[in-house]
Amino acid sequence: MMENEKIALVTGAYQGIGRGIADMLSQNGYRVIYSDVFPEMEGVEYLKLDISKAENREAAADYIDKKYHRLDLLVNNAGVACKVRMDILETTEESFDRLININTKGTFFMCQKFANLMIGYKSSGKIKDYCPRIVNIASNSSYTSSVSRGEYCISKAGVSMITSLFADKLGEYDIPVLEVRPGIIKTPMTEVVTQKYDKLISEGITPTKRWGTPDDVAKAVLAVAEGLLDFSTGTAINVDGGFHIKRL
Ligand SMILES: NC(=O)c1ccc[n+]([C@@H]2O[C@H](COP(=O)([O-])OP(=O)(O)OC[C@H]3O[C@@H](n4cnc5c(N)ncnc54)[C@H](O)[C@@H]3O)[C@@H](O)[C@H]2O)c1
Repeated sequence: MMENEKIALVTGAYQGIGRGIADMLSQNGYRVIYSDVFPEMEGVEYLKLDISKAENREAAADYIDKKYHRLDLLVNNAGVACKVRMDILETTEESFDRLININTKGTFFMCQKFANLMIGYKSSGKIKDYCPRIVNIASNSSYTSSVSRGEYCISKAGVSMITSLFADKLGEYDIPVLEVRPGIIKTPMTEVVTQKYDKLISEGITPTKRWGTPDDVAKAVLAVAEGLLDFSTGTAINVDGGFHIKRL
């Protein structure tokens, strides 16, 4: 390991947006720990980490602490969509619990675990120029109603509150916490709704008439990682081709 090399942990890095973020950070000087639910991943430093499991979060924190004694960036990207889209008048407790458990509770306790680790490193004063940061990947669903997947929207609105809460709390320790809200991004998650979104995009649902890419999201995360937005703690960055603009 190079002296003063920065360490990043990215969750859900096996594919899609997380993969794009992890690759971009690697290409920009970070030593990146890719993590996901799968047992292994070729060609990268990989950690099996199911964010909904306390023992996995604990083991990941131990691994990083023992191996690197530092963590500069946590990217909470891991998340799931509804297995089946169901109207809010019909959806099940099982689907609701799954989404909240992974997307919201998992992200909350990832923030808690690794914020404590970062606070410990900061207060030890042993790491030169140490400025840790946290980025959560929320969604345009944090504020947009989709009645066919209400539990996803609720889970992501929860992630946005998690960003506010940790930005508030960690201000005291000078640890910026920001979030990125992707819009319609081409990944395995959105494969099943390709035709639907192709149509919506061509009809103008987004001012910028194209799908977003994992790279679009990764660029925003890189800006945070490089410290360009430190005084903007608590801010949500929309990466959505203008989807969030109210139009008439
Ligand atoms: N694709 C989009 O249009 C879009 C839009 C807004 C927000 N998002 C969010 O971006 C993030 C990434 O989405 P994506 O489109 O790349 O999805 P994806 O399904 O392609 O990839 C998600 C990755 O997260 C992993 N994962 C799932 N559950 C996990 C768990 N419990 N612990 C650890 N890893 C887990 C999966 O194995 C997968 O590798 C998600 O949080 C998603 O909600 C996606």
